[in-house]
Amino acid sequence: MNLSRPLSRLAAAAVLTIGAATAHAQEGAQLNVICSVQAEWCNMIQTVFARTTGIKVNMSLKGSGEALAQLIAERANPKTDVWFGGTGDPHLQAAEQGLSLEYKSPALPQLHGWAQQQAQQSGWKTVGIYSGPLGFGYNPELLAKKKVAVPKTWADLLKPEYKGEIQVANPASSGTAYTMVATLVQLMGEDKAFEYMKGLHKNISQYTRSGTAPIKAVARGETSVSISFVHDGPGEKMQGFPVETITPADGTGAEIGSMSIIKGARNLEAAKRFYEWALTASAQEMGAAAKQFQLPSSKSAKVDPRVPDFKKIKFINYDYAKYGSSTERRRLIAKWEKDVNSLPR
Ligand code: G6P
Repeated sequence: MNLSRPLSRLAAAAVLTIGAATAHAQEGAQLNVICSVQAEWCNMIQTVFARTTGIKVNMSLKGSGEALAQLIAERANPKTDVWFGGTGDPHLQAAEQGLSLEYKSPALPQLHGWAQQQAQQSGWKTVGIYSGPLGFGYNPELLAKKKVAVPKTWADLLKPEYKGEIQVANPASSGTAYTMVATLVQLMGEDKAFEYMKGLHKNISQYTRSGTAPIKAVARGETSVSISFVHDGPGEKMQGFPVETITPADGTGAEIGSMSIIKGARNLEAAKRFYEWALTASAQEMGAAAKQFQLPSSKSAKVDPRVPDFKKIKFINYDYAKYGSSTERRRLIAKWEKDVNSLPR
């Protein structure tokens, strides 16, 4: 892989700071990682971890729901060692289904309470590595051109002026979209939430496979509004695209992006080494270096000023255990397919 200059510097700094204890090369060692954050971050950790440890990382990029589907499919003969990132609900489902390994990191006390709680709720089979709020992305130039106001509440998205203007991902493949379904059910109650999603369906131009595709479409002027994690906005803006984000005034949910070691991992020692490394402050700061602005779970990681300010957002009391359970997640996705996605638009 070709290293850009800043990436080379970061890699060098990581080697120095992580130090001699971990820097001895492991010739021939490999690690198979499914990565559910965006490519730039995946590439960065792949390169830096390999440089730091000598362990070759084979990286495959998959959305949260797709990653879970792959792990279920390869259950009898696992090919994956670590699943890095993606929303926490499918990680909890993997834990419940016995797809991930119980592992209690000595670094847990150095993590924020929400990340430790995620570990505890899974019986120590997953851990929180970042968090981020759900909200809306919008293209201010397009909205101004169409003379349409910035949506401020969930209810606003049902207005007829947004017809064909909104994109969100499909909750079966995307953890971002499943977070929306679970958030609405908790905010409105299940019946009202499904009535709401049927109304919203009329205004949706496309349900995408990946959770980040809608805000990228907004940034590029292909659609005016997206339902997205708001920490995915600044990275697009830094590339010069006109995109802003807002969280709904009536309340929203947040993800606890997670990481799990896979049960039956063929490269278990390398997997544990990666896991410990990924919980360090310096590894977690690579998110922002790769223009992804979730809140890191390490209490000592620097928080970039572009990370959303959680204190200014109205959050629901998201029940991660309930909405990460297999029965609930499967039931809600099947109901969404049948009652919402099958409707004409
Ligand atoms: C982006 C976000 C992550 C999130 C992930 C989920 O990468 O930055 O915070 O966990 O999307 O992806 P998905 O495609 O499953 O919605």
